[in-house]
Amino acid sequence: MHHRTLGPFQVSAIGLGCMNLSHAYGTPVSAEQGERVLLSALDAGVTLFDTATLYGFGANETLLGRVLKPHRQKITLASKCGMQGVDVNGDGKLVRVIDGRPASLRKTCEDSLRRLQTDVIDLYYLHRWDKTVPVEESVGALGELVRKGYIRSIGLSEVSAATLRRAHAEHPIAALQTEYSLWTRNPEIAVLDACKELGVAFVAFSPVARGFLCNTLTEVTTLDPKDIRRAMPRFAPDNYAANLQLLPAYLQVAQDVGCTPAQLAIAWLLHRGEHIIPIPGTTSLSHLTEDLEAVNVTIDAATMDRLDALINQKTVVGSRYNVQSNSEVDTENF
Ligand SMILES: NC(=O)c1ccc[n+]([C@@H]2O[C@H](COP(=O)([O-])OP(=O)(O)OC[C@H]3O[C@@H](n4cnc5c(N)ncnc54)[C@H](OP(=O)(O)O)[C@@H]3O)[C@@H](O)[C@H]2O)c1
Repeated sequence: MHHRTLGPFQVSAIGLGCMNLSHAYGTPVSAEQGERVLLSALDAGVTLFDTATLYGFGANETLLGRVLKPHRQKITLASKCGMQGVDVNGDGKLVRVIDGRPASLRKTCEDSLRRLQTDVIDLYYLHRWDKTVPVEESVGALGELVRKGYIRSIGLSEVSAATLRRAHAEHPIAALQTEYSLWTRNPEIAVLDACKELGVAFVAFSPVARGFLCNTLTEVTTLDPKDIRRAMPRFAPDNYAANLQLLPAYLQVAQDVGCTPAQLAIAWLLHRGEHIIPIPGTTSLSHLTEDLEAVNVTIDAATMDRLDALINQKTVVGSRYNVQSNSEVDTENF
């Protein structure tokens, strides 16, 4: 496994996104399967593990805490605060709430530490910028957690270059995490360059386009009713059918390069910049092995151009987020 720099850490060039072991794409996997995936990633040389308070309303952090505790010294453990489940109606039902107030972030950090069974979290992201709180206040509170030794570094998720600069002036930011793949090019507007200039690692989430670029998700009407892709415009049946038309040419490129479609998607990201670290998510051991092999795929400049022309914000049909989700992020939406 190759390595890349993330703040003070050297991490595997491909990290593991752990969200879908507990959350997002249908029924969570069993505890045993979650454990198998995490330990197989460790065995394969993955050292960056990405979770969040939100995922499974704490269940994902609990899983990582239990399984990775014996390996804590070998890994860079990343989690997120500022978006969590709250019993807003007092009926025991948790609702997703964005809350970047300093006191809430401190409380969430204590909960994360307990669930992760660790004394310190290596990288703690503000999952969403709460636009009712100046970003300096939220990042200032996270800076206090660094000084107290509860976290080692600070990350941001889904913020614009301007917000990154404001936050970075308050406290050094180690990493910015945002969706980035062939079909989601928003970070190319300004964020990728700002990260490079400021020495901030760019962590690319949903790098295989939530399954689209793997050529295995051909039917979206059968997705689980709770699958979050159902609310995403580009996964709406008509839009998705149009997007599938892009795949035959993409599969031809993968064949020419000599890799699988998922590997091509991840390798494309690795070739976009040395400061980019993709974190694919999977519940399957064979997909995990396949995805991590992308580190050995080489793509020449002409093929990068071919891919750029083929799948981009102009050729994809439907935006990545619906109106509600888009109002919660600070990035331009394609
Ligand atoms: N900061 C944020 O707001 C945010 C938002 C979303 C995600 N994230 C992070 O980014 C991580 C990854 O993102 P993601 O899970 O949304 O998207 P992703 O990694 O692009 O896609 C995951 C989907 O692709 C499938 N897949 C992966 N590799 C495959 C392969 N080789 N062949 C076939 N199917 C494959 C998975 O299914 P199988 O399980 O069947 O493999 C899963 O349905 C998350 O786990 C999370 O840590 C962060």
